[in-house]
Amino acid sequence: MTGKDWAAWHAAYENPASDLSFRLRSVQAAIGAWLDSRTDPALRVVSICAGEGRDLLGVLAGRPDAGRVSARLVELDPRNAAAARAHAAAAGLPSVEVVEADAGLFAAYAGAVPADLVIVVGVLGNMSQADALATIAALPALCAAGATVLWTRGRQHHDRTPELRAAFAGAGFAEQSFLAPEHSIFSFGVHRFDGRPRPLPGDGRMFTFTT
Ligand SMILES: C[S@@+](CC[C@H](N)C(=O)[O-])C[C@H]1O[C@@H](n2cnc3c(N)ncnc32)[C@H](O)[C@@H]1O
Repeated sequence: MTGKDWAAWHAAYENPASDLSFRLRSVQAAIGAWLDSRTDPALRVVSICAGEGRDLLGVLAGRPDAGRVSARLVELDPRNAAAARAHAAAAGLPSVEVVEADAGLFAAYAGAVPADLVIVVGVLGNMSQADALATIAALPALCAAGATVLWTRGRQHHDRTPELRAAFAGAGFAEQSFLAPEHSIFSFGVHRFDGRPRPLPGDGRMFTFTT
């Protein structure tokens, strides 16, 4: 765990005018659109560094077809994991599992992949750029064929997104959309996995969370 208070970090969601709330609405719209586009009776979702899981849980809570989705949210902070569990229970989502673990480890996803949707929101800016590129390169081990990856990256210091988008292309992903609003520091990409899924490594890590 890093020095930052990642439970308090969620307070910005209480202000609908915050950049974070705008990002959340954008991600939730993409999750809803993804669900609408998939007719499969069963779908798997994983969320890397899920926090309180507001993006996925907020969408599933309002969907009559939420029972199609089983999900694993991986989050290290026990307070955020507890909030996500409470939200899932209140929304009647027994197929959402919240695992308190280091999301950088491949082992955290054992039994939950290959996933049809991988949520990488609020993650890639909290590691070295080398780790972000390595994580993107490793995503084929989490993805089912045709999976969608949702990802965000802040642009407040230096815009790293051109390199990240190139890394997605190099790992077998086709860009479905990329949003970088002028009024906001965040950018948001939606990529479809067109490559061949890879087995999940039994051990090892994709990234070390740093900030
Ligand atoms: C920027 S927040 C994003 C949370 C969520 N994805 C969202 O967008 O609302 C990063 C989250 O990563 C969690 N975190 C930090 N280190 C982690 C690790 N090694 N494994 C899993 N989660 C971690 C923090 O507790 C925090 O909830």
